Amino acid sequence: MVNIGIIGLGTVATGVVETLQMNREFIEQKTGRKINIKKVLVKNIDKPRKVDLQGKLTIDPDELLEDESIEIIVELMGGEEPAFTFLKKALNKGKHVVTANKELISIHGRELLELAKANKKQLLFEASVAGGIPIIRPLKQSLASNDIKEIIGIINGTTNYILTEMTEKGANFQEILAEAQEKGYAESDPTADVEGLDAARKLSILSSIAFNSRVTPEEIYTQGITQISRKDIQYARELGHVIKLIAWARKRNGEIECMVSPTLINKKHPLANVNDVYNAVMVKGYPVGDVMFFGKGAGKNPTASAVVADIIDITRNFEGENIMGCSCFMNRKVVPYKKIESQFYIRMSVVDKPGVLAKIAKAFGDNNVSLSSVVQKNTAGDLAELVLITHKTVRENLDAALEEIQALSQTREIAIVLKVEGDE
Ligand SMILES: NC(=O)c1ccc[n+]([C@@H]2O[C@H](COP(=O)([O-])OP(=O)(O)OC[C@H]3O[C@@H](n4cnc5c(N)ncnc54)[C@H](OP(=O)(O)O)[C@@H]3O)[C@@H](O)[C@H]2O)c1
Repeated sequence: MVNIGIIGLGTVATGVVETLQMNREFIEQKTGRKINIKKVLVKNIDKPRKVDLQGKLTIDPDELLEDESIEIIVELMGGEEPAFTFLKKALNKGKHVVTANKELISIHGRELLELAKANKKQLLFEASVAGGIPIIRPLKQSLASNDIKEIIGIINGTTNYILTEMTEKGANFQEILAEAQEKGYAESDPTADVEGLDAARKLSILSSIAFNSRVTPEEIYTQGITQISRKDIQYARELGHVIKLIAWARKRNGEIECMVSPTLINKKHPLANVNDVYNAVMVKGYPVGDVMFFGKGAGKNPTASAVVADIIDITRNFEGENIMGCSCFMNRKVVPYKKIESQFYIRMSVVDKPGVLAKIAKAFGDNNVSLSSVVQKNTAGDLAELVLITHKTVRENLDAALEEIQALSQTREIAIVLKVEGDE
């Protein structure tokens, strides 16, 4: 028998308890051992629970961490602290650890993995990126022979749901956010999702593994979806694109380029059809080529699927080597986003007078930015809306051109700049 202690009994932990109960028989057959939930740490002991764990709930962390008969700690409380302190203690006390906590792993992953190694224990975190979609193990194991060149994905379900609904209903961000909160697809404080921070944490974990070099969330240029209007979605559609919150990282000349940003993605790109709360991650490597992982990136059951698989893996490999050790053996530079080359979409409003377009074109030309398309949209009064897509250019050249354009007396507003993917 293996005794486990679970920290937290919220959405994911409830799914973990249910999965261990519902699939108990074949999990025991697979592992050859019974998995026994010995204690569960919660914050509020009086809260009604959806699973029956009578006598097992506690508010004292030491009832799990100091109990020598508990061999695996499953951390499902979230946040940096006190989760970090609890897991350090668990590893130092000789316990294996499973966690779904992307915030913690993106900040302290290396330290925890080193601590796990020093204590000859496992630290598994498959559920921390893209919930039920296997991606950490494939990168570390199944694709281990590959030189990974690029990762591009949709790894936040809330924003993908919001953008899908905005696209289908022609609605604005705030309306759909309110609807998503009512349906439980967005949290009451949606900041981490809609500002792209959650996706940046996950991308930092994926890029660190893929490129064997530590990338922190702070190093990732991050732009959220709050500024996206239904106009941008409509114009993107007319130009053959959909807008998605894309997490992207590429290895180039030995350095890492990465960003999380709302992106116009060509309708022919495989990620363009990943809708609603679904997630997908495309990995480009040599020799494998392109591989795509698709599924539900969050929610009780998909996340529990990954957490319980980690528990099973540890149970099978109790005396074995570290299954998922730290693979950041290089120290690559992360390229500042202004040096990253890409195509860009720009929406701006200008005074609708002869000669204005020529001045704008000159500013782009003077800064080595060439344009792939220019469309003049709705004119209101004496104002015209311009929608432009550039050829590939570095962001600092684009910003220099936009600074000159902003200074023109005929420019009213440079409303938004978005990355474009999948055209060139
Ligand atoms: N939800 C998802 O779809 C999803 C997907 C992928 C990964 N994750 C990750 O999984 C983790 C758990 O997420 P969740 O959605 O299940 O969270 P949740 O529903 O908010 O549950 C958190 C649980 O932790 C407990 N807790 C919080 N602070 C505590 C403290 N100081 N001491 C003891 N217990 C404490 C709470 O206890 P009480 O119940 O007593 O309040 C609650 O049971 C997070 O790291 C999250 O990022 C979640």
